[in-house]
Amino acid sequence: MQRKLIRPLFPWLILLPLLIFFLYSLTVSLHAPISPSPKIKKISASPTCNLFKGHWSRDPNRRPIYDETCPFHRNAWNCFRNQRENMGTINSWKWVPQTCDLPQIDPFRFLDLMRNRNIGFVGDSLNENFLTSFLCSLRVADLGAKKWKRKGAWKGAYFPTFNVTVAYHRAVLLAKYKWQPKYSASGDQSQSEGVYRVDVDIPADDWANITNFYDVLVFNTGHWWGYDKFPKEKPLVFYRAGQPIVPALEMMDGLKLVLKHMVSHIQKEIPGKTLKFWRLQSPRHFYGGEWNQNGSCLFNEPLEESQLDIWFDPSNNGVNREARTINRLIDEAIRDTDFEVLDLTHLSEFRADAHPAIWLGRQDAVAVWGQDCMHWCLPGVPDTWVDILSKLISHHLKME
Ligand SMILES: *[C@@H]1O[C@H](CO)[C@@H](O)[C@H](O)[C@H]1NC(C)=O
Ligand SMILES: *[C@@H]1O[C@H](CO)[C@@H](O)[C@H](O)[C@H]1NC(C)=O
Ligand SMILES: *[C@@H]1O[C@H](CO)[C@@H](O)[C@H](O)[C@H]1NC(C)=O
Repeated sequence: MQRKLIRPLFPWLILLPLLIFFLYSLTVSLHAPISPSPKIKKISASPTCNLFKGHWSRDPNRRPIYDETCPFHRNAWNCFRNQRENMGTINSWKWVPQTCDLPQIDPFRFLDLMRNRNIGFVGDSLNENFLTSFLCSLRVADLGAKKWKRKGAWKGAYFPTFNVTVAYHRAVLLAKYKWQPKYSASGDQSQSEGVYRVDVDIPADDWANITNFYDVLVFNTGHWWGYDKFPKEKPLVFYRAGQPIVPALEMMDGLKLVLKHMVSHIQKEIPGKTLKFWRLQSPRHFYGGEWNQNGSCLFNEPLEESQLDIWFDPSNNGVNREARTINRLIDEAIRDTDFEVLDLTHLSEFRADAHPAIWLGRQDAVAVWGQDCMHWCLPGVPDTWVDILSKLISHHLKME
């Protein structure tokens, strides 16, 4: 009986929304500004505004939009829960671009715009830090958000109200790499001796099969390209087309080659309609020594603009010089591609005050790992990264 009633209604159930949508889109297109040809993908947020240049300004009324109860937190970065000092001050700074305003993300509007679309992050733990801020921000608009770990994702969430997935694929070098133990003359496998084989032309398994799933992708690599992760006695050895590259490459030359191959792989394999970002380096703020030499970041305020070169210009040979060096290689690799650059380095260089430092949530953590002057407290600086990324994505989607 009920079936019969529904059947004649059925065409109307479909047609009515379509009609409403049609009328609505007519009015929208009448009022919308004339947008440039959709083929032009490289457009900035607004032709006059560079979101990456500006200054931090104190705004005592500013509040983070999520707190320590967000289920997507990673313990070591959950600075409210770990009772980090200064969290109020850390979150009272607002990034002010030179020629425009950067509002905090409106998660309802953003998810509504993203409906039926997916965003993926690929790279190292600084992209996980970024993702965690994004998930906690978006969850404000959809408390039904569920953990999501498919297609090789390390961490992620599905937002059922909007049918949106946002996830992170861990691939610290982007290229595939694996530990290769050394075999002794007798054929025994040594436990501790060996090399890390990097196939410069093969993407890591973790993101090998995601090409069609995401509408927006944010790539990064950089923080693992150092001798603390891969010491000289356990070096990276680079392979291309399955053969070792001879003569062996230095680490930075290997990075250049990996970037070249990964960029061209992405250009070739990922559909042209996918919005592709490359995030530049997140700066570290170890003061007085490296992470394993009692390096510390107990600062109460952001750095001054005049201090930045002393800290970060590679010619000053400071502890944290690598960020700008690696950025140059990345800049070269993505020049003349349709990647959009997320240049979060400069704005983050100021924020020596905003790392977890000694408040890591575990008593022995500092003794074992040293202070964390690399990742960021959440809520904190990555929330500004989210404001910028969501503004850029929104801009592109509105242009479609
Ligand atoms: C959810 O989004 C996916 C695209 O990511 C789409 O294929 C699917 O049809 C959507 N589901 C619903 C119920 O709209
Ligand atoms: C990717 O997908 C292909 C085809 O479905 C499959 O053969 C391959 O094993 C997958 N690779 C990974 C790393 O999951
Ligand atoms: C770090 O500090 C501890 C305790 O003050 C000290 O014993 C140790 O020698 C220091 N390590 C370095 C590398 O300076």
